[in-house]
Amino acid sequence: MATGGMDEASNMKVVLKHYVSGSPQETDMHLTAGTIKLKVPKDSNSIILKNLYLSCDPYMIFKMMKLERQLTDPYVLGSPITGYGVAKVLDSAHPGFAKDDLVWGITGWEEYSLISDPKNFFKIQHTDVPLSYYAGILGMPGITAYIGFYELCAPKKGDYVFVSAACGAVGQLVGQFAKLHGCHVVGSAGSPEKVGILKNKFGFDEAFNYKDEPDFDATLKRHCPEGIDIYFDNVGGKMLDAVLLNLRPHARIAVCGMISQYNREQPDGVQNLSSMVSKEARMQGYLATNYYHLYPKYLEMILPLIKESKVVYVEDVADGLENAPKALVGIFSGRNIGKQVVAVNCL
Ligand SMILES: NC(=O)c1ccc[n+]([C@@H]2O[C@H](COP(=O)([O-])OP(=O)(O)OC[C@H]3O[C@@H](n4cnc5c(N)ncnc54)[C@H](OP(=O)(O)O)[C@@H]3O)[C@@H](O)[C@H]2O)c1
Repeated sequence: MATGGMDEASNMKVVLKHYVSGSPQETDMHLTAGTIKLKVPKDSNSIILKNLYLSCDPYMIFKMMKLERQLTDPYVLGSPITGYGVAKVLDSAHPGFAKDDLVWGITGWEEYSLISDPKNFFKIQHTDVPLSYYAGILGMPGITAYIGFYELCAPKKGDYVFVSAACGAVGQLVGQFAKLHGCHVVGSAGSPEKVGILKNKFGFDEAFNYKDEPDFDATLKRHCPEGIDIYFDNVGGKMLDAVLLNLRPHARIAVCGMISQYNREQPDGVQNLSSMVSKEARMQGYLATNYYHLYPKYLEMILPLIKESKVVYVEDVADGLENAPKALVGIFSGRNIGKQVVAVNCL
């Protein structure tokens, strides 16, 4: 909304109040009003963005914490927090971007952002799909699923695949990729509703609610009686430990994330690593950001699958920046069903 000055707009922001320990709460953030000039500074390389969709991603918890061994730069208190988003360019001094371009990349949790160095933004070329998909299936979570499953797990037809946090942004894609590849797929998620979605919407062969299961080893023996060739690990902790007891020979584990451990002062220990020796198993962690050079190849694969409805994508869309803190903290207790995004200023 324009304010008094020429080309100046009011700009609501989500700001971190203090660094958190344990699970983040809505009250760790607050909304604050500011203003922003909607023209790029002269002699800069910057762009001005109107933010359309913001992505709630588990890694953001590390930026909300001040840790002794910091994995990533923490958020600056009093400044808008940052994360992946989809946005429209309002003004540009950068030769690679023009007014009205649609882009995705790391932006501010605010209505408008000045990006002084936009080199890591991707220009959106395909707009015949929902724009919010560029925060999920066509953005960072999509590449994460693609790299982890195809590059790290080297899937073969008939492989037995297990995916944890399977109803989320990444997991729902891994399960569908595995089914398209001719694998047998089992998923775990945290509610009966999610279990139903895994089986009825994403086509998982089996699914279970891990919150109802006191003994994950017994659960896996029941749902994966042949054992596990591929484990796509989104949660770590006790589930990883139980998977290690159920591996098939030459199993592959993609260590995508360990969300069950992120809010722990004392992480769970892993007891069963020795089974990797007898099963000649391979376990590999990775960062999707180091594979962005494969994004065009991924788009080539995924766009036709979306258009032909061979892959579906479930999103959980929170409406308005005022609901963004609630949406973000919700992913750490499984409140989201599918990819959690926040719609800020829809076109
Ligand atoms: N390596 C990379 O480059 C990369 C990139 C993106 C994401 N990741 C990782 O991938 C994983 C999934 O991310 P996402 O974006 O797809 O998130 P998401 O699944 O959309 O949301 C997180 C989900 O995790 C589950 N969860 C939360 N706390 C849990 C706990 N204590 N134990 C078990 N499950 C819990 C919840 O589902 P339930 O209802 O099932 O509990 C929640 O919905 C995360 O570990 C994330 O850090 C890694």
